[in-house]
Amino acid sequence: MRQNVLGPRAVPETAAPSPDQVDGSVLAVEGLRVRYPGASAEAISDISTVLAAGDRVALVGESGSGKSTTGLAVGGLLPRDAEVTADRFAIDGRPQPLMAPGVLPRRRPDVSMVFQDAMTCLDPVSTIGTQLRTVLRDATGASRAEAKVRAAEWLRRVGLDDTVRVLGSRPYELSGGMRQRVMIAIALCSRPRLVIADEPTSALDASLARQAMGLLTDLVRESGAAMLMISHDIDLCAEFTDRVLVMYAGRIVEEVASERLHTAAAHPYTRGLLASVPTLAGAGAEWLSAIPAPTGESGGCDFRARCRYATDRCAELPPLEAGVRCWHTADVLAAPGAAAPAVPPPSLREISLEEVPA
Ligand SMILES: Nc1ncnc2c1ncn2[C@@H]1O[C@H](COP(=O)(O)OP(=O)(O)O)[C@@H](O)[C@H]1O
Ligand code: SF4
Ligand SMILES: [Mg+2]
Repeated sequence: MRQNVLGPRAVPETAAPSPDQVDGSVLAVEGLRVRYPGASAEAISDISTVLAAGDRVALVGESGSGKSTTGLAVGGLLPRDAEVTADRFAIDGRPQPLMAPGVLPRRRPDVSMVFQDAMTCLDPVSTIGTQLRTVLRDATGASRAEAKVRAAEWLRRVGLDDTVRVLGSRPYELSGGMRQRVMIAIALCSRPRLVIADEPTSALDASLARQAMGLLTDLVRESGAAMLMISHDIDLCAEFTDRVLVMYAGRIVEEVASERLHTAAAHPYTRGLLASVPTLAGAGAEWLSAIPAPTGESGGCDFRARCRYATDRCAELPPLEAGVRCWHTADVLAAPGAAAPAVPPPSLREISLEEVPA
């Protein structure tokens, strides 16, 4: 058994319970892995986490890091030919079957998903009223009359007071912000135990995005469900969640309490991600497009080709200990008298594209 080399102060305050303590958990995942057909490497490797009722957890990382794959695997919506395995996978304490290759994916009834593009998720030819009533009747057993009343109630809850018009509209007749609210209503009205929101506000402008995030998190909190918020926007996510999981190349590399993100994040990649936030629309965006996909060749830390702290030891995969998967951070925190995670933040702007392996 590996020793925990970090002092108690360094352990994330809101660290998830271990998978041994999953009684009452909404989601308990251990060793989740996904490989797409023909891919040389797993898209996600060894993802483990536990969410309790009411937990609001962010999954952040740049494009290609495996966030959506994680969400789709948990929601049971991966393509039918993807290979998915896990050592343990339970929702609301009930073990869930993983899809075998070739088995048609099915949405898990206790899990709702909200996606970025409401236009492609909503049925383009049915009215909003029909779609809401169908979900209400299927998921909650509501009668036709009850579903009609509740559909209007749900629209009001998401701030769409012109219920008669919205219920009679088809998706293309609504604005992007209204469609996103409708999708939130549809996701929540089935009384899910877990809500997975994958870039739910990326199609909206900054102020509408913040409103929609606030609405979604308020409704999830009222319902008592857990929430997994997926986004590349680390600061927006942290604002609306309690805990942040940072992904790089298909693995969780750091877990940190949202309120301590800027002061306690210790992994060199997380520090770089935070340092690059103001430039996401400019130089950062160029860097994002250069993120290497997992190659599956190294077996070591996937970040080492671009990490200023890398040593020979990084050819071996570091464990996720006390919330951080990094040999250097573990050494820093284990040093006598270390008062705080002392990894100086490298700016991603300092990492030239030439350093990124092809
Ligand atoms: N349907 C798919 N088929 C094959 N590869 C995929 C598919 N979806 C995603 N991938 C690959 O899996 C990795 C993770 O992608 P994804 O989960 O979409 O990341 P993120 O949501 O963080 O941008 C990437 O290398 C991506 O190219
Ligand atoms: S120091 Fe090593 S283990 Fe830590 S992020 Fe850098 S390459 Fe990875
Ligand atoms: Mg994605």
